[in-house]
Amino acid sequence: MQQVAPLPLVEPSSPLTPSLPPGPRQWPLVQLLRWIRRPIPFMQECAQRFGDCFTVSFPIAGQRIVFFSDPAAIKEIFTGDMENLRAGEANAIVRPLLGANSMLVLDGAQHARERRIMMPPFHGERMQVYGEQMRAIADRSIDAWPLNTPFPIHTAMQGITLDVILRTVFGLDESETLVQLRDRLIRLLSNAAQPFLLLPWLQIDLGPYSPWGKQVRLKKEIDSLLFAIFAQRRAEGTAGRHDILTMLLDARYEDGQPLSDQHLRDEMLTLLIAGHETTATSLSWICSRILPRPDVMGKLRAELRAVVGTGPVTAKHMAQLEYLDATIKETARLNPIVPLVGRRLQTPTRIGGRDLPAGAVAAPCIYLTHRRSDLWPEPEQFNPDRFLGKKPSPYEFFPFGGGVRYCLGAAFATYEMKIVLAETLLRTELHLAPGYIPKMVRRGITFAPAEGVPVVVTKRGAVAAPE
Ligand code: HEM
Repeated sequence: MQQVAPLPLVEPSSPLTPSLPPGPRQWPLVQLLRWIRRPIPFMQECAQRFGDCFTVSFPIAGQRIVFFSDPAAIKEIFTGDMENLRAGEANAIVRPLLGANSMLVLDGAQHARERRIMMPPFHGERMQVYGEQMRAIADRSIDAWPLNTPFPIHTAMQGITLDVILRTVFGLDESETLVQLRDRLIRLLSNAAQPFLLLPWLQIDLGPYSPWGKQVRLKKEIDSLLFAIFAQRRAEGTAGRHDILTMLLDARYEDGQPLSDQHLRDEMLTLLIAGHETTATSLSWICSRILPRPDVMGKLRAELRAVVGTGPVTAKHMAQLEYLDATIKETARLNPIVPLVGRRLQTPTRIGGRDLPAGAVAAPCIYLTHRRSDLWPEPEQFNPDRFLGKKPSPYEFFPFGGGVRYCLGAAFATYEMKIVLAETLLRTELHLAPGYIPKMVRRGITFAPAEGVPVVVTKRGAVAAPE
């Protein structure tokens, strides 16, 4: 672990923060910079010093974030009154990117209404429909990976997951609109990967070449592409189509009203952005964990041989790929791509035996909870076996968040990761590029492996076929 200078304490009795748990006493700007630049040493040091609950202060609207890594307190947060514990307000930082109608930034009744209308396309049984497209896209990408030449697997995975989300969400075949949308989204997300652009004071449009100015213009272009797709789909009719846009165009709120174009735009953008980079980053972490481990690779290949044979992997194999599932979970335990989730308190609230003031953000910390040695023996060890035959508590293991805000796309992402990994292992002999040591870098709000995880394909063909 990185050694960092110790932080001074905030006394619980400090007149500035009367009822917040103790935390570092540095200037909020210094805390913010540390959180952006070196979040893991910052969190680890706070946990070592203050235990499983501490307060971090940022100079953004006087933000106080209370980190929790005690499952009992996390249960109180995930099962508490969502009118009081507001995730949408805590997620306000993504509002300029996703729009004010995005489910991620709504709360209370509005959020519940939006979630009800967005749920059906993400039900488990729908995955079989998307699975075929996922496999075809993964196979096409794998066919194009260079042989014996290092390339970043993160970029390859981004290509797969973006195409999967574009096809399943819009049901579009390769077309000029799809090409344009893909190009604008890649640029928008690559700009958004700069964490400083998330800071409200830097979101100023100083013309087409300024960082935020570029985002504003790209967002406008994406908006007009999306509105054109909606209009075209309405004109063509939705009969016989199974994509998510079609389901949402046909969906009605309880009062019989359809989603407005602005709502549709914000929700489509939310799915495109929430569903693409997250899954690609998770897949890259998994590669960085399994490729240097012959024991894990051996078990994965043995399971694939037994369950899938020569492939291709299909819906009927999914439930039997238990070691693959455990590997995905163990990577999400050690390398959650989102380090915490937040709920802003509307009223003073007692959580984990502590009285917190209104306005504070109660934040179940995924990263710290997943590395507690009392919950996870030898927590730093990558050991997928620990998940075999076990269903971990949702307050000890929560890479997809929890409660009524549990990730809408969790089943979709898990299904996609299994298909992409199964096809990769069935069809390639893949290695980490020599000398690569995985480290974490921040990409916007996500934690990603550095350098995109360079890999080398040494063989393409039926690698995991029966001997
Ligand atoms: C491995 C991939 C993914 C990870 C790790 C992930 C993680 C998360 C997390 C931590 C949250 C916040 C939950 C909370 O506040 O308690 C979330 C919310 C959400 N995710 Fe995901 N996600 C992934 C993939 C996806 C995909 C594929 C989609 C859609 C296609 C998606 C759509 C959403 C939406 C719409 C929300 C907001 C839910 C709400 O506020 O009610 N995510 N995700």
